[in-house]
Amino acid sequence: MKATQKVDALLNHSSEKQQKNVDSIVHDVLDFGDLLLISSKGHGKTEALKTLASRFRAIPNTRVIIFEDFPKWIHEFQAIPFMRIRDKDVIETEHTINLEDVFLRHDKSFTVLRGPEIEQALKEHRDIIFLLQTESIEKTAFFIYSIVKHFYRIAYLRAYKGYQKHERIVFFVEESQNCFDSSTISKKIFNRLRKIFSVARNLGLHFVMASQRMQDLNPRIRARTRLMLGRVSQDDYELKIHRLLRHSEHRKEILEFNKGEWLYVAKDKKTKFPMLPEPQYKPYEICKPKILVRTERQPNGLKEKFMSALGEKFFEESEEDEEETEWDEFLTTEEEWLIDEEEW
Ligand SMILES: Nc1ncnc2c1ncn2[C@@H]1O[C@H](COP(=O)(O)OP(=O)(O)OP(=O)(O)O)[C@@H](O)[C@H]1O
Ligand SMILES: [Mg+2]
Repeated sequence: MKATQKVDALLNHSSEKQQKNVDSIVHDVLDFGDLLLISSKGHGKTEALKTLASRFRAIPNTRVIIFEDFPKWIHEFQAIPFMRIRDKDVIETEHTINLEDVFLRHDKSFTVLRGPEIEQALKEHRDIIFLLQTESIEKTAFFIYSIVKHFYRIAYLRAYKGYQKHERIVFFVEESQNCFDSSTISKKIFNRLRKIFSVARNLGLHFVMASQRMQDLNPRIRARTRLMLGRVSQDDYELKIHRLLRHSEHRKEILEFNKGEWLYVAKDKKTKFPMLPEPQYKPYEICKPKILVRTERQPNGLKEKFMSALGEKFFEESEEDEEETEWDEFLTTEEEWLIDEEEW
């Protein structure tokens, strides 16, 4: 065998091995529940997430829903539809509640608009990226919650009605500390997300998340996920990781990991992640904002004008969300359709 052939054979062998390691992590996530990647800036979190997402996409009955706020996936990932959510698509509403013993209480809540477009996108496309151009962490978290909740309702009803279909949804959340830390988002959104998170795996809903520091995530979330650690910052190492890896062979080495090297903590296995090859086709935008054409009839009256300016709602926070028992009563025909549908 010539030297170049030997090098090729070695490279093929190592990339096959890398692929196998990635696939074993992917299947572990589906069996176990969730995955959290922690590494300092620029170590390769997004690259690793992209590799994982591409492997999840290859599994039947498995949908991948990606949320990003910095436009990276929409430029670099493979062919996948993406939908832009603008700041004005998530509006803030304020209830003023007067309880008997309380002088005044303000309660902030949100509403996600463009309902028909979002539902259509989720119905038509198996996998999707949501590019979130929302300007506050709370709006971003609320939008993610609204999509997760949408799938949770469907999965809950399927389970409730004893349907056989098993569909798995894998949510990719970059900068997950923005959604899963009660100090950065309102307690109400956090508690609702956490509630879904704690039962999600039993309903085939999985979270793959990334964050720069372990200490930024709420301990209740952290404790429930499997971990993949890259090179971490010294303070995170001293505060959390050092203790977590007390029985690990790679305890010291982790501070010297090269880009793309990860420790899968559950198995104490070091894995080099491959870079995703340059894709042949790029992501493409769906539901581009329409150019409004003036129609003959203009909305009449204040209420009609207001509702027409808002567009239709996808998700509105309401107290009924607290109750989780009689879902079928809230089921829209759209959701019945989704549940009965066997194919995407
Ligand atoms: N598996 C890998 N092998 C070799 N180089 C890699 C690998 N993954 C990432 N890199 C290099 O590191 C750079 C940064 O990767 P990436 O954007 O994924 O990091 P990140 O952890 O998501 O950064 P940030 O914290 O800023 O979001 C890439 O542009 C690439 O050059
Ligand atoms: Mg990144």
